[in-house]
Amino acid sequence: MTEMPIPLAGVVGHPIAHSKSPQLHKHWLKSYRLPGDYIPMDVQEDDLEQVIRALPKAGFVGVNITIPHKIAILQMADLVTDRATLIGAANTLIFRRDGKIHADNTDGYGFIANLRAGAPGWRSDLGPAAILGAGGAARAVISALIEAGVTDILLSNRTRPKADALRAEFGSKVRVVDWVQAGNMLEEAATVVNTTSLGMTGAADFRVPLDGLRRGTIVTDLVYAPLRTRLLQEADEMGCVTVDGLGMLLHQAVPAFERWFGVRPEVDMRTRAAVLG
Ligand code: ATR
Repeated sequence: MTEMPIPLAGVVGHPIAHSKSPQLHKHWLKSYRLPGDYIPMDVQEDDLEQVIRALPKAGFVGVNITIPHKIAILQMADLVTDRATLIGAANTLIFRRDGKIHADNTDGYGFIANLRAGAPGWRSDLGPAAILGAGGAARAVISALIEAGVTDILLSNRTRPKADALRAEFGSKVRVVDWVQAGNMLEEAATVVNTTSLGMTGAADFRVPLDGLRRGTIVTDLVYAPLRTRLLQEADEMGCVTVDGLGMLLHQAVPAFERWFGVRPEVDMRTRAAVLG
């Protein structure tokens, strides 16, 4: 009789030491008493394809893909989901029994699930969403908001052509606003999302003027180090509903964990504590 191998998953990136995903997945494996393990792997770009191709043979059922490989990995996949194609990047691979590599992007799902959990009153028809930033994270957020039914998205980025390119791609639901006017677009917004690295430990300060924010506006920051960014603190003081970015990290992992290990995990206070601790 052959023993069932222990299913392995992990995260592939470079660097990888900072990743919180191992703590998260190991916490769920333990909580649900499931056999399995989750391993961080520091892999350079030149070695990426060779490593990915070898993993299924070593007992891996899938991996997360993180910076800087999220775009390049699409070329190596045999199947790419519509949402990964739309975002132009993948964060989750599933190694199928038939040997095919399936690439998905759960960042947009994680963003919306976190928003709904942190601001239960959020609906897609509350009014315009204002997005700061036009990088990779903004693409996932915009595609998720459109998929959820938001029809008016205000987009502002320091480098305007990157915002114009997203507008060209996502269409007339996106309106581009000059970076110097970013504060003004907040007056109109029902939902505000920071997708820039501004306010992150070690990055430049978040300096967009916030006096236009209205009481009750839902404000979320993808930056989660620190957990309470200046944006969230000031928005709180102004009577906004704030949602921190750690939840997006937790929620994006739910569909992956379910596909790999067969149980849909809960995101609760214990999950947050496991990742923060
Ligand atoms: P991610 O995948 O996390 O979105 P990214 O693609 O490097 O990372 O995008 C980073 C975002 O933060 C961009 O919108 C970037 O603005 P630019 O397109 O002008 O570079 C924004 N950003 C980073 N540093 C910034 C700063 N000092 N001021 C304003 N925006 C900044």
